[in-house]
Amino acid sequence: MECILGIESSCDETAAAVVDSSLRVRSNVVASQYDLHAEYGGVVPEIASRAHLERILPVMRKALDEAGIPAGKIVAVAAGVRPGLIGSLLVGASAAKAFSWARMVPFYGVDHVAAHLFAGLLRDGDRPAPELSRMFPALGLVVSGGHTSLFRLESAVDCRLIGRTIDDAVGEAMDKAANMLGLPHPGGPNLERCAVGGDAQALRFSNPQLPNALDFSLSGLKTKLLYEVRGVPQGRGAAATFARTSADLSASRRSDLAASFQRAAIEQVIDRLSRAADLAPAPALFVGGGVVSNESLRVALAAWCAARGMTLVVPERRFCVDNAAMIAGYAHLRRRLGDAGDDLSVPTEPVSLLARGSAPKRVQ
Ligand code: KG4
Ligand code: ZN
Repeated sequence: MECILGIESSCDETAAAVVDSSLRVRSNVVASQYDLHAEYGGVVPEIASRAHLERILPVMRKALDEAGIPAGKIVAVAAGVRPGLIGSLLVGASAAKAFSWARMVPFYGVDHVAAHLFAGLLRDGDRPAPELSRMFPALGLVVSGGHTSLFRLESAVDCRLIGRTIDDAVGEAMDKAANMLGLPHPGGPNLERCAVGGDAQALRFSNPQLPNALDFSLSGLKTKLLYEVRGVPQGRGAAATFARTSADLSASRRSDLAASFQRAAIEQVIDRLSRAADLAPAPALFVGGGVVSNESLRVALAAWCAARGMTLVVPERRFCVDNAAMIAGYAHLRRRLGDAGDDLSVPTEPVSLLARGSAPKRVQ
């Protein structure tokens, strides 16, 4: 079985993985940097790229060792080249290009958003391979810290953006909501934990209506939550003063607000999916991105697909958050479609080609 080494370093995770041509994950190593960024309440780009530099070679070596595949048996190497923090992307992409050059194997510069979209095809253990041919044209949804985007998928490399957030991504909004509630970094998972047992009806949010009915907006939800937690501010901008802080919340009120915010964000996702499927029915929905590790969202997506008779292609939790298996997996999909790889001059870029709203025939 042909194996690809994947590398991912777009933000604060240094990751390497080996995936074979049946999309079975042979190894999946992720070195997180949560501890390095926790005191700042978010990712500091310069700290992230320096940490990647220290970790990249040991992480690559560990991925090969755990897979039991010698470097000489790897048939291609792939790295996320966009979107992400440039300093961080550069570390992983340069390591992959060096591997490609030294080992004389093809290099695939992969779009991180496309990799998230198809991470549900990765196989772990005895999970059977889904039958791809019957799934297109499909709907695609990426909900991560940087993206909240809806796609019409003609194939794995023909993805058309049909809706996206006009302000915050869902993950970003979850992180900020967690911060407003006084919960520690990383926000999304802590918001989910805090929401357990809370009353999701405690605070009602409205569903934003936008000129493009498939677009998302999370900023109104954030403002509503902020005013609920701290009161309506006196004054404007930096001079604004609030009557309360998150420390004034009781534990049960905090939990109610977390549950309500989570519910509103999920309801908006499901609402946009319904609108997209009403416009153009599809046999399958591919989902991916860090927020898909949220249990309430997973339950809602499964119920929505079941009600419409659609196949849900959803990654296991560990392949939802940033990982390198999805990068290697997407390189395999490109290879299956006859793509022989990229020139080593492929640049690293801060923005996804998929997020630009154009309809690239060939998505790297
Ligand atoms: O895909 P990802 O790992 O990185 C990006 O490409 O952005 O997504 C990270 C995002 C963060 O905003 C994080 O808070 C969110 O995914 N996230 C969650 C959960 N786990 C991660 N949000 C809600 N519930 C979770 N369990
Ligand atoms: Zn991601």
